[in-house]
Amino acid sequence: MVRPLIEALRMRPVARRPVWIMRQAGRYLPEYRELRARHSFQEAVSTPQVAAEITLQPIRRFGMDGAVIFADIMTPLEAMGVEMTFDPGPRLRPHTLAEVAALEPLDIDRVGFVTETIRRVRSGVPDETAVIGFAGAPLTLLAYLVEGGGSKDFMRLRGQLRADPAAARAALTALAAAMKSYLAMQLDAGADVVQLFDSWAGVLDRDTYRDLALPAASTTLGGLDAPRIYFAPGSGHTLDLQAAIGVEGYAVDWRVPLDEAWARLGDVAIQGNIDPAVLLADPDAIRKAVSDLLARSAGRDGHIVNLGHGIDRHTPPENVAAFVEAVRS
Ligand code: CP3
Repeated sequence: MVRPLIEALRMRPVARRPVWIMRQAGRYLPEYRELRARHSFQEAVSTPQVAAEITLQPIRRFGMDGAVIFADIMTPLEAMGVEMTFDPGPRLRPHTLAEVAALEPLDIDRVGFVTETIRRVRSGVPDETAVIGFAGAPLTLLAYLVEGGGSKDFMRLRGQLRADPAAARAALTALAAAMKSYLAMQLDAGADVVQLFDSWAGVLDRDTYRDLALPAASTTLGGLDAPRIYFAPGSGHTLDLQAAIGVEGYAVDWRVPLDEAWARLGDVAIQGNIDPAVLLADPDAIRKAVSDLLARSAGRDGHIVNLGHGIDRHTPPENVAAFVEAVRS
């Protein structure tokens, strides 16, 4: 079975550029809001029937080439004994580096609902649609654990990495082992590809990124037997370093022009990178942005069309339709 998303990640020629959207299952869709009115976020994630339905909603409407499993990067941490709520982002007790290093190892049975969601999604999507599993990168999970939630500048995290790099390394090593087994489970269950979200790695300077975040991301993804995508938004200053992770694909945000990303990453697949704000404009602006993007990747294999970050919750669904159509036509 030929799945265009997988072909592109393997740097093989494709009949059409594959397209999907980060956060494509979410609040901009009325049918998502309707389901969420009846289930809390955590309830929706942990109920395979509901999570699979949410995963399939954008595929039915727009027919993307990839279906990204509905869950959160924080979901497996709950199965490691970390208590949290979502409001809408994760809220938890701030943890010390030593506490993170001492977290329970991930018991894969406790994320059995993700396994079951993936099985349901695989049998619910067209054959040529790739099923996308994912996890949070160790540094990004550590950022939430240390801060107790999101943060403007992750000052507490950055302070602790400076104060005790050895303790930070131990914490990152524990998270890497857990996320590696979590991703392996998703591939066993039927995912075709995995993406590692390093959403907050961009707050680090180059040296700290190279010494701490990068080895942990490499360990997480190393040796998995499937195409892998690494995504660190706001990280144009470390793109050349990211190449050392050695994965098949890199997602880049809208700040770096696509051709420049290729020059710095080398001969790999690249995913991206339309500014999500473009989808708040009109269909003409969307078609123009898509045609500029395709011009930058013309003649190259290994381009997966996507936004440069998650879709904004205020995006009109008809603009998403215009975006997917513009890529296909
Ligand atoms: O469609 C998909 O992409 C699949 C599901 C998915 C969610 N979160 C669902 C979700 C994925 C891949 C994620 C990843 C995620 N979660 C990231 C990495 C991507 C990025 O943005 O850099 C991060 C940083 C998180 C942490 C998180 N979870 C935040 C910051 C929030 C709230 C903010 C928001 O505006 O989305 C969440 C909650 C969350 N995760 C929602 C969804 C659909 C909103 C929940 C709701 O319905 O209220």
